Amino acid sequence: KVADLKGTKQGQLNLAVITTAKYFVPRLLGSFCQHYPGIDVALKVTNHREIQQRMSDNKDDLYVVSNPHKDIDLKSQAFLNNPLVVVAKKEHPLAGKKNLDIQELNNCPFIMREQGSGTRDAILELFEQHNISVKVKLELGSNEAIKQAISGGLGISILSEHCLISERVSGELTVLDFQHFPIKRRWFVCRLAGKKLSVIAETFLEYLLEESPKMSFPESSILARLAK
Ligand code: PGA
Repeated sequence: KVADLKGTKQGQLNLAVITTAKYFVPRLLGSFCQHYPGIDVALKVTNHREIQQRMSDNKDDLYVVSNPHKDIDLKSQAFLNNPLVVVAKKEHPLAGKKNLDIQELNNCPFIMREQGSGTRDAILELFEQHNISVKVKLELGSNEAIKQAISGGLGISILSEHCLISERVSGELTVLDFQHFPIKRRWFVCRLAGKKLSVIAETFLEYLLEESPKMSFPESSILARLAK
């Protein structure tokens, strides 16, 4: 079936993915579109709440999320890990220390994602479990902007490890080694349970499940150094 598609079928693939998936979905689409040049893709990158709205409105063929919504009838398949880590400026006083007590996060200047973000929900859930309250200096709707704010010295944050993929050895950020981290999460590819997928969407779903585990995520130098 997949072979039939090659070079023959034309059509549109509509995808909506959470903010962290932008670090790999476009790369995967690159090779997919080389295999199937007749397919045009529309990719929406946004947070969990907006994806939920798009699901309710039946806007897209496939969705990539970390928290598949319980109140929408979905078929979901997990495919890659998407852990959350504590990110700080390299010069942070806790940088390089091992196995930090989570209580050290109390009252830390913190940069938080916006309401509707799944990252934010996961952070707040962990903070609630451990009675942590941080000083939110700034709320931002973008992981990249949060990285800049950390570099600028506004505070620390908690981000998906995938957000650090593009950091260089000379980068300004580091990962702090706290207890209870990384927060373990996964990416799921979802579709509405009652919707029949187009051949094109079906083909992309197969491609994603097969190819994503093989993708080499250029390992962040920060994480590599931390592991030493
Ligand atoms: P968010 O999702 O953009 O809603 O925070 C990102 C993630 O869960 O990895």
